[in-house]
Amino acid sequence: MLNINLKGKRAFIAGIGDDQGYGWAIAKALAECGAEILVGTWTPIMKIFSMSLASGKFDESRKLSNGKLMEFTKIYPLDATFDTMDDVPEDIREHKRYKDCSGYTISEVANAVKKDFGTIDILVHSLANAPEVQKPLLETSRKGYLAAVSSSSYSLVSLLAHFGPIMNPEGSVLSLTFMASEKIIPGYGGGMSSAKAALESDTRTLAWEAGRKWGIRVNTISAGPLRSRAAKAIGFIDRMIDYSTANAPLSRELEALDVGYPAAFISSPYAAAITGTIIYIDHGLHSMGVAPDSPTLQPTAAAVTS
Ligand SMILES: NC(=O)c1ccc[n+]([C@@H]2O[C@H](COP(=O)([O-])OP(=O)(O)OC[C@H]3O[C@@H](n4cnc5c(N)ncnc54)[C@H](O)[C@@H]3O)[C@@H](O)[C@H]2O)c1
Repeated sequence: MLNINLKGKRAFIAGIGDDQGYGWAIAKALAECGAEILVGTWTPIMKIFSMSLASGKFDESRKLSNGKLMEFTKIYPLDATFDTMDDVPEDIREHKRYKDCSGYTISEVANAVKKDFGTIDILVHSLANAPEVQKPLLETSRKGYLAAVSSSSYSLVSLLAHFGPIMNPEGSVLSLTFMASEKIIPGYGGGMSSAKAALESDTRTLAWEAGRKWGIRVNTISAGPLRSRAAKAIGFIDRMIDYSTANAPLSRELEALDVGYPAAFISSPYAAAITGTIIYIDHGLHSMGVAPDSPTLQPTAAAVTS
């Protein structure tokens, strides 16, 4: 049990589609603290996620330290690339994974949450998508680049614009970023490095605007590599994890809850003065200037750690 009391607080977490990613871990940490959890799940996987949840597939991961299962009060279908139904192209509306769903644009979901619950206290953006993520930036099309920024960065701006009016004062907004925004990570392509840079810059500007407008905080966690579904799609997550273990100051593999627990703290009143900030949770990898496991550095780097 985390010794942070979030009883009476309500969180909306955008970007949970299974029990492997950061969004799930943040939900679990918030639930450990007593927060009520609402979820936004990407429209095309809404059915499979709801069915898996109902079938008990995630029950082991749902177990809280008090023995109870984490509950989601409501799961909303959400496609964070669309603000209103006018934005949704015909082929998407008619797509077999969309046509049975309604109300999945950001404005509609925010309105539905308002109608169902009135207000929220915590908003978490744990989503990213880039159709050309496996292409180097030089080979990324304009369409692919803009799609990455639309779903991975502008989605935060839009979520905050639509949820801000129903967030209680002293509320917290949190997103997830990656250090490819500021350092070269070959392979993190398709405009995703650019999208994360935009997300981080927007975190600062939104902290100012939302702080003055609604009295709420906006932060982002720069997380280390985790073998989530999204990360596997990029194609080299296992090597990134090995690299981190070999070269970060703390030599161990990151678990999703290593991010989940600090996320609960950042979302809590204990972090009332933290806003506009990038919080690094990556075993210190971002601080390294060289890769100590590089053969070029041997035996110097090895000598320091032996
Ligand atoms: N896994 C890592 O190594 C790592 C490292 C640093 C930051 N992050 C960030 O963490 C966040 C969560 O990713 P994750 O790695 O936990 O993977 P994940 O697969 O658990 O989460 C990504 C989620 O985004 C959803 N999504 C994609 N497009 C969407 C859209 N248009 N509308 C709504 N939802 C959409 C997916 O369905 C999925 O549930 C992302 O912002 C990611 O960039 C991940």
